[in-house]
Amino acid sequence: MCGIVGYTGYREAYPVVIKGLKRLEYRGYDSAGVALLNGGLKVYKKQGRVAELEEFIVGKDLHSHIGIGHTRWATHGEPSDRNAHPHTSAKGKLAMIHNGIIENYAQIKKELLNKGYLFTSDTDTEVLLNFIEDIKVNNECNLEEAVRIALKRISGAYCILLIDESDPETIIAARKGSPLVIGVGKGEHFLGSDASPMLEYTKEVVYVNDYELAIVRPDELILKNLGNEKITPFVTKLDMELAAIEKGGYDHFMLKEIFEQPSSIHDCLRGRLDASAGTITMSGIEQNIEAFKSASRIIIVACGTSWHAGLVAEYIIEELCRIPVEVEYASEFRYRNPVVNKGDIIIAISQSGETADTLVAIERAKEQGAIIFGIVNAVGSSIARISNGGAYTHAGPEIGVASTKAFTGQLAVLTMMALKIAKKKSSITDERYTQLLFELEAVPEKVDALLKNAGKIKAIAEKYKDATDALFLGRGYNFPIALEGALKLKEISYIHAEGYPAAEMKHGPIALVTDTLPVVFVATKDSYHEKIVSNIQEIKARKGLVIAIITEGDEVIAALANDVFFVPPADEMIAPMLSCVPLQLLSYYMGITRGVDVDKPRNLAKSVTVE
Ligand code: AGP
Ligand code: GLU
Repeated sequence: MCGIVGYTGYREAYPVVIKGLKRLEYRGYDSAGVALLNGGLKVYKKQGRVAELEEFIVGKDLHSHIGIGHTRWATHGEPSDRNAHPHTSAKGKLAMIHNGIIENYAQIKKELLNKGYLFTSDTDTEVLLNFIEDIKVNNECNLEEAVRIALKRISGAYCILLIDESDPETIIAARKGSPLVIGVGKGEHFLGSDASPMLEYTKEVVYVNDYELAIVRPDELILKNLGNEKITPFVTKLDMELAAIEKGGYDHFMLKEIFEQPSSIHDCLRGRLDASAGTITMSGIEQNIEAFKSASRIIIVACGTSWHAGLVAEYIIEELCRIPVEVEYASEFRYRNPVVNKGDIIIAISQSGETADTLVAIERAKEQGAIIFGIVNAVGSSIARISNGGAYTHAGPEIGVASTKAFTGQLAVLTMMALKIAKKKSSITDERYTQLLFELEAVPEKVDALLKNAGKIKAIAEKYKDATDALFLGRGYNFPIALEGALKLKEISYIHAEGYPAAEMKHGPIALVTDTLPVVFVATKDSYHEKIVSNIQEIKARKGLVIAIITEGDEVIAALANDVFFVPPADEMIAPMLSCVPLQLLSYYMGITRGVDVDKPRNLAKSVTVE
């Protein structure tokens, strides 16, 4: 988490940095700060949003051609002015921003305290900064050398940017585990946690790798490893337009992203799926097809919403490909000494491609000989780069903290993958294969159709806005969608919500049902439809308030439920891509009516780069 921006060049640095911070604010919003250099170091920082920093900064001397800026997601020390970044070193000569966690900071802090250092914040960042300064002074070396020495003693994750009062053109940057992109301009360079701060200035970027250190000046970008050997920067062309990261007339990014789904799913399918020709083209799968065909097991690792996409995939892959699938929380998988056999395929699912838990999990599995297949949205991200093969979801930048269009993109990619593997394995009949291809092709149009009724969900949200709890229930392919609906409601409206398989309800959660509890059933037509009708009856018998997401024409449930939302008919395997959309809208409108900042809900961050 946390957003990092840097600039060195001929422009005024402050406007570039502050605009960049606004674009990266989705990554953390506990505090914001900038450091500029003009004669001496000038550091301005404030608890709260970037807008609060801007207000605070009015009238201050901002002239500088070099600058670094930070939006924080606090790990060490409460959100406050004094814990905000940039931090200034004890001697006042260096300023630094940091994304990540220095795990052995306590030991280093002890050593520095023994040497008489005093600390003005509770952060691990200030410890690393003073450690660097201490090395620089004692070894009489330059900043670059001091950073290199310090980083060799550090454990944990970091992306750091430093400026030095005595070198007014240079930013020293380094990363391990947290992202860093450098934009290459003419006579200027830009640095960011992602490419959004530099979009209008350059399309040429360098993705910095772990254990690399960058020395960045207006006319020069030097990349080195921690052994002080030079590395040739690999420049890639950005394929992203400014419009993709702007709200485009919507009140919130979340709403824009929900409404973008007909086109984002279309973009995901485009060039891959051709239902009339009966083909799915996915080079990542084709290159690894033998491994998939002979895989004795697939393990899916992910977190949050991406983990829910993995659960849907478990059902689809097992059904179509007859390969056993396990779905693991990346954080648990990483630390529980799992059995990974050579030839196992690990599928990592991640919108950001930077989630630390997922990243560390696949690094570990790769060491054990597993093949890593990444399903990632953010192009060029760490997970995409360390995977052996993969497929992008092509949903475009997702900025609202809630994952919406990335989720439907993940489902589309996973379904195409399963169909492709099943076809190659001959574990699917030709008729079923063709039918599902056409079903998949029709999804964007069906999502578009159901979004036209968003007003109906808005009315439901207003009716239930005072709920304190909610249950989400589904069966089969819709069970993970119930989990996803509950997660969305929790994070966006702060209403306590739980998701369960509908039949599991009677083993405990039914005790919660009263005449004030909304119970959301994800109950589109499928092979166990009658079973879920019974589950609805069980809730109704206890006076629970039933909100049902059902297939057009389902009069049985329509007659039972207190409120319904209809989605177009679809095969049960494809239905999750439709049934999740009204739940996204429900959490959005609930959040809005309850006054939540839906794009930046409390305590969360978009990109979770700490373990
Ligand atoms: C989704 O709405 C969440 N905010 C969160 O659960 C997210 O899906 C999770 O942190 C995983 O992120 P990733 O897909 O970028 O790896
Ligand atoms: N660990 C640092 C802090 O708590 C950085 C957190 C971040 O990545 O924003 O300040």
